[in-house]
This record gives sequence, C-alpha cells and structure tokens, in this order.
Amino acid sequence: MDAISVIRTKRDRGELTDHQIDWVVDAYTRGEVADEQMSALAMAILLNGMTAREISRWTDAMIASGERMDFSGLTRPTADKHSTGGVGDKITLPLAPLVAACGVAVPQLSGRGLGHTGGTLDKLESVPGWRATLSNAEMLAVLESVGAVICAAGDGLAPADKKLYALRDVTGTVESIPLIASSIMSKKIAEGTGALVLDVKVGSGAFMKDLADARELARTMVELGTAHGVRTVALLTDMSTPLGRTAGNALEVRESVEVLAGGGPADVVELTLALAREMLTAAGVDAKDPADALADGSAMDVWRRMITAQGGDPDAPLPTARESHVVTALESGVLTRLDAYAIGVAAWRLGAGRARKEEPVQAAAGIELHAKPGDLIRTGDPLLTLHTDTPERFPYAMEPVTSAFDIAPEGTPNHHRPLIIDRITPTT
Ligand code: URA
Repeated sequence: MDAISVIRTKRDRGELTDHQIDWVVDAYTRGEVADEQMSALAMAILLNGMTAREISRWTDAMIASGERMDFSGLTRPTADKHSTGGVGDKITLPLAPLVAACGVAVPQLSGRGLGHTGGTLDKLESVPGWRATLSNAEMLAVLESVGAVICAAGDGLAPADKKLYALRDVTGTVESIPLIASSIMSKKIAEGTGALVLDVKVGSGAFMKDLADARELARTMVELGTAHGVRTVALLTDMSTPLGRTAGNALEVRESVEVLAGGGPADVVELTLALAREMLTAAGVDAKDPADALADGSAMDVWRRMITAQGGDPDAPLPTARESHVVTALESGVLTRLDAYAIGVAAWRLGAGRARKEEPVQAAAGIELHAKPGDLIRTGDPLLTLHTDTPERFPYAMEPVTSAFDIAPEGTPNHHRPLIIDRITPTT
C-alpha cells in the first residue's frame, strides 16, 4: 500500500477500500505517511466526500489508533454532551453538574478554544487553582465520587484525530462533514460513554452556517454513534446570536454559576434544561426533573464538589479585566440582529481566545451583552461592554463590533429562529 494510490483514488472520486482507510490512518499516525500527503487526501475528501461506509471505517480506524476508556465499572450510567462550538456556549459548565445531580455520571472530556469559539477548559481555568489535566485514574475517581468531571482529553485517546485535526486546521480542510463527524465521534466513542447528546450549532457563529449542512452533520454523527452502540441523539440549535449575555472565559463562568444558582439568562437555562433532559432520557434515568435540581441547589452542590476535586476554589473571586469600554446605541428602536460571529471575533481579539494552540488566553477578557435581539433600545443605552487587560486591543476588537448589530424602528417584525430548531434521532 502507498499513500499516492490512496490520494489518487479519492482525487478521482473513487471509494476507498477498508484496507486503504485502515492503512492510511495507521501509517499517518506512525509518521509513515507525510503531512503533505495527508493534507492532499484531506482536501480530496473535503472536495469529493465519503460514503457512509467510508466514514464509519475512517472513524473505526481513528478509534483504533489509541486507547478506549471503560466506565462500565461505575455505579451509575454515563452520558456525555458534545457541542460543535459557538459563541458564548458555556452550557457544559452548568450542564455536567446538573445531570450528575439527577443521577447520571458525566465524563466530559473537553478541549481548548481555537479561533472565534471559546473552549470549556479555558473557561474553567479562570477559576483559581482549577486543573484541567487528570490521569485516567484521577478522572475515574472524580467521576465516581462527584458524578461529573470536566477535564482535558488525554493524549492516548484517538491520537490519529489529534494529529489530523491540527493538520486540517492549517490546510483549510476543517469544513468537511465526513472529517468533522469522524473526528468528533472517534473521540466520543473511544471515551466510552453509554449515551451521547450532540448540540449541533447552526448560524453565523457556528462551523455550519447552513441548516441543511448542520442537519446532515447531525444525522451522520447520530448514525455513527448508534452503529457503535452509543445511544445518540442530536439537537440542532441556533448560533446566529451569542448564547446568554457573555462571551469570554471568566465572564462565562460567572454566568454559569448564576444558572446553577437558579437564575441566569433565559436562553442558557432553556438549552441547559433541554440537553439535560435528553441526556437523562438517553441514559434511561428519569427520577428527577433537572429544573428541580437547579431550584433546590443540588446541581450547585455538585458544581462546588467538582471544582474542588480538581484543585479549584469555588468561593474565590473570578478575575476581572483591568480595562473596559462600553458601546452605546446611537439610535432608538428594536435590536433585530446581534451577530454571533462578529461578537466571537471581537472577544477573541480582546484576548479571550487564541490564534495558535500554544498561545495563552486572558481569563478576564471578553464581552458582556446588555441587549439581545428583540429588546427595545433607546439612544445612549449601553449595548455591550468590552473587557481586556490589554487596552491597545480595543480598536482592533471594535472593528467587527461596529457591524455586529442592527437597530430597526420600533414595531419592525422580528423573524428569529427558535433556539432549538430540530431534534435528530436514529430514526429521523
Ligand atoms: N471539533 C472536532 O473535534 N473535530 C472537528 O473536526 C471539528 C470540530
């Protein structure tokens, strides 16, 4: 077998054999297939697609490149959630302790942010003392004692994906449904969760800008999970405007704690509860309504124990930025658009995100939103506040902000998609 014949097959719109797929994924992981050869193959896959069989085999090959975790020894069933990423998407933070408070163990192996979407680990690292890296034994111990753990995926899990994802990131080959679906699902299947709920985002702030593409990605992942014995369901959710009222690491932790305390923005609460109900149903546990676990403080108890178990201090004040800048409305009317992508880019430019994997992020940088689409605005009202430790970034961050919103005359009809657009199950 050689890399050139595999590349040629896909370049010429052929179907890769099982043997070709197994070989190329394994040889790439071992360094026998060069980055430039894998880049060419990834581009051929992006341009010419893959059949369902090819996607399934490619996923299997990536799983086989590393270890598989096993949670079967736990006393409770497991469920995990994966979001395809968005702006202000802090849902994992309240969701994991909430689902654990309802009796299901949540092994949440998470990542860092790259580009305009934030990463769960970056957010939690703004909690003083909190540590993202756990050994497998430590992870299992936290999961057994607390019921929820959010930590970095170890290097042993789907190493082929780790290498390939970094390559795709710099070769313009991220936006391929077969490659995204196999990348996400190889990690989730190798992680060993019993049930999985996917939050597939659609809109300007998401990978998938188009509803039909998002639906196809969701279907592909639900099929992959189901075929591998993981009870999998997907929600298609709106990401044309940021979730909640904050985008940025410590700002999002603060908002998540508000949700766990029984408050928080309505959209964050709605999506957290919807995903929690899906996770409990998929895990076959319906003893407690998640809304009650927010109201009675039991989800907050799990949050505090989860943070403490990883060295964090849930009572320590969260960092605040050295400088802030308030943007006010220049006219009165109704806010008809607040663009998720523009806000994500601005938060990133303020220091909340990174351009390269090795870069640090600012814990306190980000954006607070004082109005959301549908709100009435008066001239001079604050629309958003920009926060950063490095104020020289303000002009650069303001560029996307100036075209991020529309204010229309009062009474202009607002045509917003619902937050939860659709639900994809193995049978839909
Ligand atoms: N997230 C992943 O883990 N992989 C992708 O390919 C895209 C998003």
